[in-house]
Amino acid sequence: MEIKASYRALTQAAGDLLVLGLYEGKNEGKTAILPATVGAVDRALGGLIQEAIAREECSGKFLRTAILHAQGRIAVRRLLLVGLGKRSEMTIERLRQVMGMAARRARDAGALSLCAPVATDGIKRATVQDVAQAMTEGIRLGLYRFQTYKTEREPNTIRTCTLIAQDASNVGAVESGARRGEIIAAGAAYARDLCNSPANVVTPGYLAEEARAMATAHGLRVTVLERADMARLGMGALMGVAQGAATPPKFIVVEYEGDKKAQVIALVGKSVTFDSGGISLKPAEDMDRMKYDMTGGATVLATIRVAAQLRLPVRLVGLLPATDNMPGGAAMHPGDIITTLAGKTVEVVNTDAEGRLCLADALTYALRYKPAVVIDLATLTGACVVALGHHAMGLFGNDDALLARLRAAGDVAGERAWPLPLWDDYFRQIQSDVADLKNSGGRPGGAITAALFLKQFVKTPWAHFDLASTAWNTDAAHPYLSKGATGTGVRLLIAYLSSWTKAPRKSRGRSRPAPGGRVSRKGSRTNAPVAP
Ligand code: BES
Ligand code: MN
Ligand code: ZN
Repeated sequence: MEIKASYRALTQAAGDLLVLGLYEGKNEGKTAILPATVGAVDRALGGLIQEAIAREECSGKFLRTAILHAQGRIAVRRLLLVGLGKRSEMTIERLRQVMGMAARRARDAGALSLCAPVATDGIKRATVQDVAQAMTEGIRLGLYRFQTYKTEREPNTIRTCTLIAQDASNVGAVESGARRGEIIAAGAAYARDLCNSPANVVTPGYLAEEARAMATAHGLRVTVLERADMARLGMGALMGVAQGAATPPKFIVVEYEGDKKAQVIALVGKSVTFDSGGISLKPAEDMDRMKYDMTGGATVLATIRVAAQLRLPVRLVGLLPATDNMPGGAAMHPGDIITTLAGKTVEVVNTDAEGRLCLADALTYALRYKPAVVIDLATLTGACVVALGHHAMGLFGNDDALLARLRAAGDVAGERAWPLPLWDDYFRQIQSDVADLKNSGGRPGGAITAALFLKQFVKTPWAHFDLASTAWNTDAAHPYLSKGATGTGVRLLIAYLSSWTKAPRKSRGRSRPAPGGRVSRKGSRTNAPVAP
């Protein structure tokens, strides 16, 4: 399927299905309001849409859909009407959802082609390019299906999607927005594929090979540390987790230099390829899902791939401490004391709190790159799911400007992150009687004590995303998330990296850039997206 940009009057748009949005609201007793563009189409159709509204065959209620036949009065064969909700509540994320829903509905209806106008109407602060990007993301993400292991696959009848510019001068902006959306959505789909794939396929070795393949394709540098390298360096925490598993662990390093002079942003992704809990074995129910405990690593790989494709002017180091967490004969016993790469000792009171152990060594290793910012992403705690449900990832860190910027990126991308505190008061819970730290603080504030554990291993501006809440979707009705892995975090990170501006050269000023990004002279943070 191809997504392309063009310009023509909507009544001249040819093909199978034209997608039109309706706003919810009272309009002379009717349940929908036609945006200006739709009004023109309705006049050409002799009031067909207004009639359908009057008969309550369609409405502006958010995500409600209806298909009408154009009866040969305009060039296109059918209309797909989608409710946009209230105009005052319209956002770029709602548009993403509308297009996800529309694309699925079109595919279900066996449509061969799809077209839709690109309108900024009603969407605050959005450019034509932003709108085209969000529409493309919605279409691609909505149509995503994981069928790699099906011997009979369901086809997609749709061959082309045309995004129709409302003005001839906007075709370029629509085109570049669509191109950006394609790359970002493909990145999220890449992360979804990795997370949906089973643990007998996606092993640490597989992730290492995948990283190598990606590096070859996109001109990145990859280094893979083997168990012997980990031993030589003293990664006792990662090796402790790995010692119960039959598959060898890999510590994967991927580097992207979009700007050689920029400061390094380190992205650390939890890459537990299967989390059985180890000797502190998990219950059988839903244990199969723990194949996605490498979501953080998948998000990092996908983000770097997208950054390279968009040629973002940033320097990234991705770190993936990859291992299974299994209860083999050589596995850690609860109560074991291990020594981390940083030299701190940890009492492993629960072998199921393995993510923070892997991350501790990776966060320490990240310091070698003298990063300006360290961001880690991990399906770290069930407690995060309890705290936030499935509508936001947990966000923690030691730098308010960085956190504010990441939250703003999440809002733009339609991937919300919500801050939780890191007060020292919680520290007592992870103090050990016999070692420097223990790896579990018990049930109260479990997402917080896990983040506080990680904080002991960072020295730079740092942010931590707990992805346990958003990594997996069970809601079949979501307009653009399919059941299973969501590809969480890729869109947020790309929005953040796109707004990251180059550090001022040393000669130009004494101050380092704020880790949250460059601050303009007036003191407000610049947030201009960098065009690909
Ligand atoms: N990978 C899990 C966290 C998780 C749970 C992710 C559910 C997604 C959905 C993590 O390794 C884990 O087992 N955490 C424990 C920590 C506890 C032992 C302190 C948890 O959350 O129960
Ligand atoms: Mn675990
Ligand atoms: Zn885990």
